[in-house]
Amino acid sequence: ATSKTGLKAPVGFDDAGKVEILLDDSSPHALVGGPSGSGKTNLLLAWIGALTTRYSPDELELYLLDFKEGVSFAQFAPGRRDTTWLPHAQLIGINVNDDREFGLALLQYLSDEMRRRAAAAKEREVTKLEDLRDADPKGRWPRVVAVIDEFQYLFAETDPLSRAALTLLEDIARRGRSQGIHLVLASQDVSGIAAFWGRPAIFEQFVLRIALPRARRVLDDQRNEATLDLPRWHAVINHESGLRHGNRIARMPNASTRGLFDKVQGEMLERWGAGTPPRLFDGSRSPRVDYLLNGIGPEQRRAPVGQTIDLYASPAIVELSDAPGRNLAVLGAGADSAERVLATAAAGMIKGYAPDTVDVVLAALVEESEGPVAGLQKWLAREGHEARVEVIRLRETKEAIEKLAKRTRERLAAGERGRTVVVLFGADAADSVLDRSGTEALRALVHFGPETGLHVLGWWRSVSRLKALLTMGAVVDDIGAWVALDVQGAELLTLLPGSLLSWSPRAGRALFFDRAQHALPHVIVVSGESPDVSESNVAESGETP
Ligand SMILES: Nc1ncnc2c1ncn2[C@@H]1O[C@H](COP(=O)(O)OP(=O)(O)OP(=O)(O)O)[C@@H](O)[C@H]1O
Ligand SMILES: [Mg+2]
Repeated sequence: ATSKTGLKAPVGFDDAGKVEILLDDSSPHALVGGPSGSGKTNLLLAWIGALTTRYSPDELELYLLDFKEGVSFAQFAPGRRDTTWLPHAQLIGINVNDDREFGLALLQYLSDEMRRRAAAAKEREVTKLEDLRDADPKGRWPRVVAVIDEFQYLFAETDPLSRAALTLLEDIARRGRSQGIHLVLASQDVSGIAAFWGRPAIFEQFVLRIALPRARRVLDDQRNEATLDLPRWHAVINHESGLRHGNRIARMPNASTRGLFDKVQGEMLERWGAGTPPRLFDGSRSPRVDYLLNGIGPEQRRAPVGQTIDLYASPAIVELSDAPGRNLAVLGAGADSAERVLATAAAGMIKGYAPDTVDVVLAALVEESEGPVAGLQKWLAREGHEARVEVIRLRETKEAIEKLAKRTRERLAAGERGRTVVVLFGADAADSVLDRSGTEALRALVHFGPETGLHVLGWWRSVSRLKALLTMGAVVDDIGAWVALDVQGAELLTLLPGSLLSWSPRAGRALFFDRAQHALPHVIVVSGESPDVSESNVAESGETP
């Protein structure tokens, strides 16, 4: 069928036959409500099934996000056992509950797509998707349906992210209708979303209301009478903003049976061609080190620190060019994740140099870093970096740093450039051995190093220790990029004066800021593994619980 004027799909039954749900210019967005276990997710699955068997992927694109821990949408992505996928699905996000940033990224994407469509329409002197399809018959202009299950999580906090999400949501809700961009939001408790009720204009756009038994405030029904009487596995489907005369009661089929979609998907892929499988974001998974290091080519100076929470799961990269301030700090008290982030960043940075064309100093300044440093050294050796890699311990630090500082000053005076990467594991521990001259030398390294081709990548266990280093000859800007793990937002303010930070540490996540590319810090997913040559490391990790 064509989706030119809208999307029509039968999802349930009543005595008269099939009950259809309609998404079009007059009922552009849907709100699905009902308490836990009432069948919201099942209804979404039935709806998705009905839509995708009717419309081809050129008529309909799906973006499916599930904020709850669960796997309901996971079946639409290729998996280990069932390798089929839903050809309409562009993006699937599962286990997103703690990664509200991903929800924001989806809304941003939809808003951008809406703008792109509006511009294409304007170019052809039309305003709506329907007319754009007439004016551009060869173009591909599918309707887009974004389904967000348990969307209340997106607004779980009163913070800048909620405000940004609300602004985007309002924009999409208002103007998506004419661009064929439809939102389907499901939630246990629509009434609990205070932010929403503050903006009735958003709610008005959700003309389609679907209420499951005992749903509250989804329909225009103060006493929720229509849903209190509703039998199990039934839904009120209302295309009239919830007004009573629009109520239609439908019995819902069971679409939650395991494996139900596997067969259908196999058939769809045959009918419509495979194309590319949907992108999958799984909040319970962390990126592989191989993935982060991949694609770093010769003569690139790229330190990967994790994975960006966006629709493309791109590596988060710090470019360490030979310009002032291009050093990297990893911050956090917990050794394991900090060491993994630092080792991966260092590996990526050094990978950009041809074998043995860079001096590498690996400093294990705390005992627990000896293993990771040895692992990194092995990894570098396999990449051909051996002769010019030096491993130092705490007692050798002062001498090594002073030597590097001396060379840096000479290079600076002579206008020469070298190639040096200094990796400090437990950098703050050096305080006890550096004395005044050693500390001054370290300050000189971070301050003058980058423009002479020397970069410092370090892990500091405390922000205040790093901050103490960045005085008297060094400045805050000398650490142009940082990644904070188990550090509270308030502490980071010293590195980012004048900014509001609402950050509390989260497992497997870090706050990342690079002065050269960001106005504000971003949350990233950090890897659960380290660059290592032992097979066991590669085989076992990649997934964190
Ligand atoms: N129409 C139906 N027919 C038979 N069983 C159903 C039907 N709808 C739902 N179920 C069963 O009820 C269970 C709960 O439904 P579902 O997960 O859709 O509820 P929910 O409203 O999404 O709950 P939650 O808020 O906990 O996510 C499902 O696992 C499914 O087995
Ligand atoms: Mg559910």
